[in-house]
Amino acid sequence: MSRVITGATLVAGVVGSPVKHSLSPVIHNAWIAAAGLDAVYVPFAPPPGGFRAFVEGLRGGVIRGLNVTLPFKEAALALADRPSPRASAAGAANVLVFEPDGAIHADNTDGVGLIAAFETRIEDFDPTAGPVVILGAGGAARGAVAAFAAAGAPEIRIANRTRAKAETLAKMTPTAHAFSMGDAAAALAGAALLINATSVGLDDETDLDLPWTVLPDRAVAMDMVYGRRTEFMEAAEGRGLRTVDGLDMLIGQAISSFEHFFGRPPPEGVDVRALALAWLEKSA
Ligand code: ATR
Repeated sequence: MSRVITGATLVAGVVGSPVKHSLSPVIHNAWIAAAGLDAVYVPFAPPPGGFRAFVEGLRGGVIRGLNVTLPFKEAALALADRPSPRASAAGAANVLVFEPDGAIHADNTDGVGLIAAFETRIEDFDPTAGPVVILGAGGAARGAVAAFAAAGAPEIRIANRTRAKAETLAKMTPTAHAFSMGDAAAALAGAALLINATSVGLDDETDLDLPWTVLPDRAVAMDMVYGRRTEFMEAAEGRGLRTVDGLDMLIGQAISSFEHFFGRPPPEGVDVRALALAWLEKSA
């Protein structure tokens, strides 16, 4: 496949550190090619301490927009002149759009990506069906709490190793309650959904050692980690639960990001999940 880059080519990209392993270029460029757009999506990795200068230099539409990944999501929100309500609620932005008037618009599409992941995989998914358990209290957990509060979850249980952080996060919404990991059995009892938003499984294989038997048989488990088979997913499947993975979430947020950058939804019929999995296998 060869694509002609012209002076009129629209540029979007992803900024992170590291960014080498990002799947976003694989996903967006597949959609760009299938839609026949004169556009390109590229990775950027500014040096430590260089994120602000990098973003400021893009004002006025030097490029159309950016996806933002770790560790810059909070800094991205802080640089925005026009944050969306959901980016402000999540305390982080994963999308920046550079307006022609010099303003920076920020959004957070991780939440819609999370809900879309469940909608894609679980036929009868209903976010209001029962308690949602979120493990962790960092940025990923905060985004998940915001998304499920907005989706109408009747109760959100936040369980974290450091209980004090769960308590702070629980103040976000009246339906949230804090638990320590030691109290996981109480948090998991009767839950409809269980989401791992801790960093466990990201680059190690520590086991969260969860009391899987207290979860109802109809519960759905999701690990935000993608690109590797985690202990969490193995245990969930071993328990016979239906599962959702972080790749579904990544694709979900990419759909909304693409709309921000290119003013149209991604084209139908591109199996970006298969492309991403093939790329992961090749680069393993
Ligand atoms: P992010 O912003 O990506 O969510 P983070 O802010 O570093 O990442 O948060 C990581 C989360 O994983 C935290 O909730 C952390 O628990 P603590 O608040 O107690 O640190 C959780 N975490 C990391 N390692 C863990 C482990 N071995 N067991 C349980 N929880 C762990």
